[in-house]
Amino acid sequence: MTETNIPLAKVAIVTGAGQGIGKAVATHLAEDGYAVVIADIRENVARQAADELAARGYRVAIAQTDVSDPQSCSRMVESAVLAFGRVDALVNSAGISKPGPSLDVTPADWQRMMNIQLNGTFYCCQAAGRQMVQQGGGGCIVNITSVTAQAAFPQRASYCTAKAGVDMLTKVLAIEWAQYKIRVNAVGPSHTETDMTRTLAAQGLYDIATVSKRIPMGRLASVDDIANGVSFLCSEKAGFITGQALYIDGGYLAYGYF
Ligand SMILES: NC(=O)c1ccc[n+]([C@@H]2O[C@H](COP(=O)([O-])OP(=O)(O)OC[C@H]3O[C@@H](n4cnc5c(N)ncnc54)[C@H](O)[C@@H]3O)[C@@H](O)[C@H]2O)c1
Repeated sequence: MTETNIPLAKVAIVTGAGQGIGKAVATHLAEDGYAVVIADIRENVARQAADELAARGYRVAIAQTDVSDPQSCSRMVESAVLAFGRVDALVNSAGISKPGPSLDVTPADWQRMMNIQLNGTFYCCQAAGRQMVQQGGGGCIVNITSVTAQAAFPQRASYCTAKAGVDMLTKVLAIEWAQYKIRVNAVGPSHTETDMTRTLAAQGLYDIATVSKRIPMGRLASVDDIANGVSFLCSEKAGFITGQALYIDGGYLAYGYF
């Protein structure tokens, strides 16, 4: 095979990829053959995640990105194009969690949650979608939602509302962009072993043993459980799947007993 007919790798951007679910997704997509852009608001963790992948021989770049800023999201896509020439996949995993009684939530807290979890997801989808259309179409987007898009959790009004919004955003973009062969799906994890979960547990806002008992499969999800679903949705095996939310939850949402 000559230099000129070596197929170019597909290119994926993963937001929030400095750690947790996003980092696992970036790793799985690199293993699937994607060149990966690690986008995170914290440049140091993005750099560290990228160095780990580069040390394993994968093509990787970083984009310091604040998903709540639409211009930052546009720059993220521009830097992916600069590094690798195109964008074929986007996974939106950047997120925050700040539980608190609804009576006490401040407007600033509410807006911050919406700006990162909901607005940020839209800004990234729009920036990547524009690039995919400009390339001639084709591509896939996976938005990380949560079981909280479907099941109400106390003290998480803004989080649950934002995630439910992301589920609907996913459906709207899927039907609008099907004409461009851009598939848009969501993955909704239940409680997953990440720093987000560990921090809430350390603050006494979450009891891992109690939560595990509520999950029919008896344990939290691993980040790899979630990344496996994303990897599938980004693959050609999922070529006719769009507008769906795949809940990876060990049976959490199905459970209706006591
Ligand atoms: N951990 C869980 O139990 C769980 C369950 C369901 C859904 N989720 C969702 O999965 C996603 C990832 O969660 P996680 O547990 O890996 O979290 P995490 O806190 O471990 O990682 C989140 C990453 O997002 C980055 N980030 C935060 N704000 C950002 C911003 N404005 N712009 C860009 N990057 C930003 C952080 O720097 C961090 O690296 C989130 O959307 C979260 O809501 C998590």
